[in-house]
Amino acid sequence: MVSSAARTFDLVIAANRLPVDRSVSPDGTVTWRTSPGGLVTAMESVMHEREAAWVGWAGFPGEAPDPFDDGLLRLHPVGLTAEDVTDFYEGFSNDTLWPLYHDVIVPPTYHRSWWHAYRRVNEKFTDAVAEVAAEGATVWVHDYQLQLVPAMLRDRRPDLRIGWFNHIPFPPVELFAQLPWRAMLLRGLLGADFLGFQRPDDARNFLRGCRSVLGASVKGDVVTWQGADDGRLGAGPRVARAGSVPISIDAEGFRKLADSPGVRARATEIRASLGDPEVVLLGVDRLDYTKGIRHRLRAIEELLADGEIAPPQVTFVQVATPSRERVEAYRTLREQIEATVGRINGDFSHLGDTAVHYLHQSYGREEMAALFKVADVMLVTPLRDGMNLVAKEYVTARHDGGGALVLSEFTGAAEEMRSAYLCNPHDIAGLKETILRAIRDDPALKRRRMASLRRRVRRHDVQTWAEAFLTALDAAPGKPAVRKEV
Ligand code: ADP
Ligand code: F6P
Repeated sequence: MVSSAARTFDLVIAANRLPVDRSVSPDGTVTWRTSPGGLVTAMESVMHEREAAWVGWAGFPGEAPDPFDDGLLRLHPVGLTAEDVTDFYEGFSNDTLWPLYHDVIVPPTYHRSWWHAYRRVNEKFTDAVAEVAAEGATVWVHDYQLQLVPAMLRDRRPDLRIGWFNHIPFPPVELFAQLPWRAMLLRGLLGADFLGFQRPDDARNFLRGCRSVLGASVKGDVVTWQGADDGRLGAGPRVARAGSVPISIDAEGFRKLADSPGVRARATEIRASLGDPEVVLLGVDRLDYTKGIRHRLRAIEELLADGEIAPPQVTFVQVATPSRERVEAYRTLREQIEATVGRINGDFSHLGDTAVHYLHQSYGREEMAALFKVADVMLVTPLRDGMNLVAKEYVTARHDGGGALVLSEFTGAAEEMRSAYLCNPHDIAGLKETILRAIRDDPALKRRRMASLRRRVRRHDVQTWAEAFLTALDAAPGKPAVRKEV
């Protein structure tokens, strides 16, 4: 990566995080690591061959590092102060919006000071985008952290084509209406020409929100807002389109990685180190209360207690990526999960035979692919998830035809992956039965299910998703006079 001076681009990505996070070790050595989460997994594979700018936070509090290039991609860091990190990132983004948009699994917290920080940081992102966007450029804003950027940017740069994609669910208006700043958020979003969502229901929730909260008129997928004469953000009249464009993975790239000799060898090694069990069950998630890890552990614990599964024949591996560790709900969740794993292992493990292997760590792509190859049954049981790319990675990695996917109905992925073993994670008895079916079903049936899932992911990969989004943005109403091809 080389440092370079300011320049403008015809395509600009704005996301809370850059694709890489900076970390400084105690001896002062600076390293850049891949940032966590599905947004980065997906967007990195779409963007790495494009001449474009990516505006985002470098993952630490303090002054922004200088812009630098990673191949054709210009990375343009936005600086967040320690207060921004606390109030904007941990506060409004991850303790107000995140729980509200995920079915209030934990109660959202509403603080006016966090809202002020959210506005302030969205302004910072707007400044950075306005600086690097060429005349008539396309700007693709991502996710719930940046919902005011579309309108802020439109006020500043009416020449731009602006799209927004939500990686997480958009809540029904009955929940969204709790938000004290609901009207301003919708006005912020309506600065975009096209708004993309994971599921048709998310797009419908947004359109219903515009009608009910703003009194906007909605015809089909087009929303028309007459504007307001209060001089506040997004006061001008707007026409925008909303639709579902489900995100995916770089299926061919991931298949090749999973088939590489290094990954195959590592998979054999992992299986041996687990004691060559007959059945490996696997969970891979950020340590987040939306992911249903507690419900999954409850089902596993009961299956062990019922004598339906037991080590060494059956073992469960749970990889939990550290996430948002200073937010109280995440700290509590970690304590609960670690206590549960300890209890299960205390009750059901024997010397040399572990019931639950728990890993609170991040790994490289190769190690993830090797873990997927080892998993006979993959447990993806979120209580709510925008998409869940892990489900798509798993079926792609099991190109050998083996494996079985247990998938929560409450994920975006379940809309597409109908041949999975679908489950309701709240129904522990049902979840247990589904896990047992996924273990015991006829291997030929399981192979057919997996083949159908793999086909689906291969045909709807991340490139198809990006093209669908950019095409919909291009075709959206309100095209500016000058428009550049990207
Ligand atoms: P989210 O965006 O909510 O984190 P997704 O399932 O959509 O959930 O995406 C998670 C991404 O992070 C996937 O690409 C997955 O492979 C990756 N990932 C999950 N856990 C780990 C881990 N422990 N180490 C490295 N990558 C991980
Ligand atoms: O879309 C979910 C999301 O917030 C993404 O922005 C990111 O992929 C992931 O979760 C990681 O979260 P964070 O950036 O808070 O670590």
